[in-house]
Amino acid sequence: MGGHEPAGEQIPLDTSVPHIARVYDYWLGGKDNFAADRAAAEQVIATMPDILISVRAQRAFLGRAVHYLAAEAGIRQFLDIGTGLPSANNTHEVAQKVAPQSRIVYVDNDPIVLLHARALLASSPEGVTAYISGDLRDTDKILAEAAGVLDFGRPVAIMLLGVLHCIPDEDDPAALVRRLLAAVPSGSYLVIAHPASDIATEQMSRSMGRYNEQARAPVTARSHAQVSSFFAGVDLLEPGVVQLHRWRAGTGDPGTRRDLANYGGVGRKP
Ligand SMILES: C[S@@+](CC[C@H](N)C(=O)[O-])C[C@H]1O[C@@H](n2cnc3c(N)ncnc32)[C@H](O)[C@@H]1O
Repeated sequence: MGGHEPAGEQIPLDTSVPHIARVYDYWLGGKDNFAADRAAAEQVIATMPDILISVRAQRAFLGRAVHYLAAEAGIRQFLDIGTGLPSANNTHEVAQKVAPQSRIVYVDNDPIVLLHARALLASSPEGVTAYISGDLRDTDKILAEAAGVLDFGRPVAIMLLGVLHCIPDEDDPAALVRRLLAAVPSGSYLVIAHPASDIATEQMSRSMGRYNEQARAPVTARSHAQVSSFFAGVDLLEPGVVQLHRWRAGTGDPGTRRDLANYGGVGRKP
């Protein structure tokens, strides 16, 4: 697997240390990663081979959750924070296939995602997609800029998939979720995917420890109780917070007997 240096480098990229967006891209079989990303990604694979299944299961969970929200819950607005590099079935593609008028705001703090944002902005003519370069910690900026595209008087799905683990406890991730939820009306939704600390515990702590030794931005796996607590104040849809390949699994999802250290859940603001 090779990486290519993205063209048109006006945005500074630090390629000497692994970045989660590029490491995740490598695990998914993408090409937008550098030597340091690949080395860190391979070390995690060596400690925890199931990471390769887990990241694909996460993309499948994203697809099922967005499809449910668009097709069954009638959601037409999505705020997808920690978007990642464009992959198959990005949020706008799944939502706009169901409802072409869907409006999607993507947010990421990694310059490489900004470089590829054009691929995320290929909206259907009836809908809108927008990209904000911003940090999840800066909820005021995100909400202010997103208000240019999303109507916060109507329900919004807040999507935090594979990003809350990039916020350490000292930055109070639960408070960030509360601030986002406070900005959206009743009938809005919260979708979370988060690596688990209490499944394959030993492998998880070793692989994340190795990653954190190299990366500038550390990651934190959390327990079922901790991930569930992010849904405080919202009603969890069935089947609750579960290993994400078991959330309304469909054909093609990994078997439910397999354990994957990755939680997912969807909740509705009452
Ligand atoms: C593991 S990827 C997940 C991508 C996608 N959401 C998915 O589930 O397939 C995490 C993404 O979150 C972004 N990210 C990490 N910390 C962030 C922060 N504090 N604010 C905004 N984005 C962040 C990374 O740059 C990366 O693109």
